[in-house]
Amino acid sequence: MDPTGLLDGVLLTEEAISVRVGELAAQVGSDYLDRELVLVTVLKGGVFFLADLCRRLEMDARLEFMAISQYGPGSHGVVRITKDLDGPVEGLDVLVVEDIIDTGLTLNYLLGNLRVRNPASLAVCVLLDRDVRRIVDLPISYRGFRLPDRFVVGYGLDFRGTLRNLRFIAALKDEVLER
Ligand code: IMP
Ligand code: MG
Repeated sequence: MDPTGLLDGVLLTEEAISVRVGELAAQVGSDYLDRELVLVTVLKGGVFFLADLCRRLEMDARLEFMAISQYGPGSHGVVRITKDLDGPVEGLDVLVVEDIIDTGLTLNYLLGNLRVRNPASLAVCVLLDRDVRRIVDLPISYRGFRLPDRFVVGYGLDFRGTLRNLRFIAALKDEVLER
């Protein structure tokens, strides 16, 4: 399915994503057994992964959402929170659920911001890890897939606000990015 003609092949099928999300949920569920888990997700890209992950968890979890805006490209990790958590996370086990980690700057900022709120623990679960442009090395407790050096869309990931709602993850044609 490519009504836009912008895609250059499916990298991860709906089936592959679903299987992996189930495996991650099983790991998270056993690691956080009998704990008070809060899943913190970044709008908007992380929502698809979060929704599937939390439904596969065999434990209760609170959901929290944050939104951030980057000060333009080349902002070097300077971000502004445009929507904060609804409640405190002090003493709770916080797992940040993100769609993708690229440079690591966004996640690094978020972790620093969350850490000062004194959660009982703070860890990261990313669906996609593309490490070729990594600037900040962060501990990733749960990782869905490693990605080659391609810009991807679908399953929450967007290209200028579009293509988020694809059920699979696809690479974007190089010429589209260069435009
Ligand atoms: P980082 O701060 O460089 O790690 O960037 C992470 C954020 O950039 C992600 O949360 C996404 O919103 C966005 N991003 C990075 N790579 C891609 C991609 O290939 N497709 C869509 N969005 C991306
Ligand atoms: Mg994001």
